[in-house]
Amino acid sequence: MRLTWKIRRKLLRLVAAGTLLSAVALLALYASSEASPKAISETKRRQHSSFMFPEDLHYSHKGSRITAKCTMATCFNVSRCIDSFKVYVYPFEEEKKGGRGGGKQAASSIYKKMVRVLRDSPYYTSDPNTACLLVLNIDTLDRDPLSNDYVKRLPEKLKALRTWNNGRNHILFNMYSGSFPDYNDQLDFDHGEAIIAKASFALENYRTGFDISLPLIHKLHSEKGKFTGGVSAHGNLFPIRRKYLLIFKGKRYLWGLGSATRNAIYHLDNGDDVIMLTTCKHGKFWSRYRDEKCKKDNIFFEKYNYNHLISNSTFCLVPRGRRLGSFRFLESLHAGCIPVSLSNGLVLPFHELIDWSKALFVFDERQLFQVPHMLRHIPEDKILSMRLHTQFYWEQYFSSVDAIMHTTLEIVKQRISQFQNGVVATASNAHFLWNHYPGGLVISSDYSEKLEDYPFFIKRQQGPPSGYTAVVMATKPASKGNSPLVLLLKNLCNSTHARKIVVSWIGSGNPKVMVPPFCRPSIKVIDARKDKKLMINVMIPYMEIRTDAILSLWEDTELITEEVDFGYLTWLSNPERLVGFVGRRHFWSPNQGQWICSSGLNNRYSLVSLGASFYHKYYAHHVWHHKLSSSARKILDSSKDCFSIGLNFVISHMTGSPPLKVTQRVSLNYFTSKERTEVVMSCVSCINSLTISFGYIPLKYSWSRADPVLFRDNVAAHRKEFRRIENVT
Ligand SMILES: *[C@@H]1O[C@H](CO)[C@@H](O)[C@H](O)[C@H]1NC(C)=O
Ligand SMILES: *[C@@H]1O[C@H](CO)[C@@H](O)[C@H](O)[C@H]1NC(C)=O
Ligand SMILES: *[C@@H]1O[C@H](CO)[C@@H](O)[C@H](O)[C@H]1NC(C)=O
Repeated sequence: MRLTWKIRRKLLRLVAAGTLLSAVALLALYASSEASPKAISETKRRQHSSFMFPEDLHYSHKGSRITAKCTMATCFNVSRCIDSFKVYVYPFEEEKKGGRGGGKQAASSIYKKMVRVLRDSPYYTSDPNTACLLVLNIDTLDRDPLSNDYVKRLPEKLKALRTWNNGRNHILFNMYSGSFPDYNDQLDFDHGEAIIAKASFALENYRTGFDISLPLIHKLHSEKGKFTGGVSAHGNLFPIRRKYLLIFKGKRYLWGLGSATRNAIYHLDNGDDVIMLTTCKHGKFWSRYRDEKCKKDNIFFEKYNYNHLISNSTFCLVPRGRRLGSFRFLESLHAGCIPVSLSNGLVLPFHELIDWSKALFVFDERQLFQVPHMLRHIPEDKILSMRLHTQFYWEQYFSSVDAIMHTTLEIVKQRISQFQNGVVATASNAHFLWNHYPGGLVISSDYSEKLEDYPFFIKRQQGPPSGYTAVVMATKPASKGNSPLVLLLKNLCNSTHARKIVVSWIGSGNPKVMVPPFCRPSIKVIDARKDKKLMINVMIPYMEIRTDAILSLWEDTELITEEVDFGYLTWLSNPERLVGFVGRRHFWSPNQGQWICSSGLNNRYSLVSLGASFYHKYYAHHVWHHKLSSSARKILDSSKDCFSIGLNFVISHMTGSPPLKVTQRVSLNYFTSKERTEVVMSCVSCINSLTISFGYIPLKYSWSRADPVLFRDNVAAHRKEFRRIENVT
């Protein structure tokens, strides 16, 4: 039993008595505001300021001082972004001298990650004159002069940049501003008209519609990739109410800014389901200032494992640190421990796109003692829905530096298009897209403004299906009736759902293809030889495609009409997936220290070959329209095998789902053993370079296979719809 227990209980009782009434009222407010938080009247807000929705923060700070008001109209030249949205990054000193940056480090590890992902981004340009947005080669992340990463003589360095132009169209990144003792939220240099993207953003300095609020990012944060949170990864969505109600483990400050909140936290600890652990053992001089609680605190602090606590608690306290932000924010989000923000005046990260009321709670620091009571009364369905949202937001927008940077760029991009188009018709769409699976980062608004045009939101079709466009890549002359390509075309010609067949020719000499005399869909042979080195253009003749479905084929693929039609119908019910006939799987080889591909047929698969697959036109748009990182684009362009595996990566990355394999005729053997070895070898090289480019392996395994009803069952043939599939050998 701790010594302070009695005192604490007394305190808690006092607090509880005083706040019970208002707490109950607050809960009612919370419940009634579910439908429309905006409906809460201003007076009610003020009365109950202890329980705030994230957007309420803006009201509570009304009338505060606004510094140097910049808007997209006054401080940004939008006309530089009209044709395209391009981002330039100044070259670093040592790069200018030709590599080998020996001696002083140019930037902190996070800033290097940020710069690397920007340079690999589809928006990157190496020409500052065509850029819409410019990013410095000077690390401004840490503006605390006491820190090792502090860059000295910054104003001089800015002046020396030829295209600085008083910061116009620049974006500056910052994690830490100010220093002991007041931790001024404003940057310590003249940033002119630059956009500030910053962690711990205080509302009074935040220029709405211009600046961007970032989360505090740890230096070990993944550079690239999209990673599932702890709940999804460990499957611990249940129980809904976890062992602990609320936990915190972190620093306590003995004096100065932020200490009031962190010094009070321990009062919440009840030794049971609310565990508050603080330590004053941090910094160089902690022992000089320690108080009588420190020793005891430290003993308890060491007793609990943080990972154990955070994955076993329903809610996690995220109190302000010296500055308004805290690493606890992303940690809690990742663990699916619903964050309880306790940081007055903090602008929540990316708040203009993310509806935080779906994933966290915001409390006023002064109402600390009401927190546990309030949380106990959150209904289970709300907890579950919020836990799921923590995982969604984490995975899509925060799980890597890449995701964070791209969300930042999308915000700027969206503001530019709002500025250009005046009032945006799509504003409500944007809100929907960013807060629903699969999230705003995988949508490109230049594809369509209508949700149902995207594979993720297709509604059940009315009327007959719109059919598919077949794209066949051909290299070998096919002027004889029995060449594989001509046989394939004949079978496609009879397909009920084919609308158009495009033969993309990259053989030597002029295209030589014998077109079957009878053909239901139109046939077009394109000479794609000039694009031979750009496999994306060969496999996606984008301008020729009018249907939502694309059937990708290689010339030597053997498919009969019924198989193709059955494949199309399967795709029609799974338009967001890649639906193919030939499956393969990847696995890690500890001996070779790399990913390898299976050669033979197997029940389990994670890839389907684009030698015979259906996919939605939106993915073609995504790839063809330069939405890939430049490293990924290079790989997809390099060969048909890399294009095939690359599209599997792209689609699984966007949807988080595996492809779908449809039934394939028995004993179909495409390859000789020599060919098979070659295919496996090229698969291995593609898969390993794609993994580096994506920063992770998005591929997912599946065991399911779509067969026609009654396939190979002992039933009279006339009862089967796709009976020829099993007869042909
Ligand atoms: C804005 O950018 C355009 C295109 O680069 C340029 O022609 C124009 O002079 C710029 N306007 C201002 C006010 O800087
Ligand atoms: C949650 O707590 C249990 C024991 O109560 C422990 O076995 C488990 O590992 C914890 N969860 C995690 C993910 O640490
Ligand atoms: C295509 O359909 C026609 C007419 O129904 C038929 O004569 C022909 O044999 C079919 N071709 C193939 C390859 O199935």
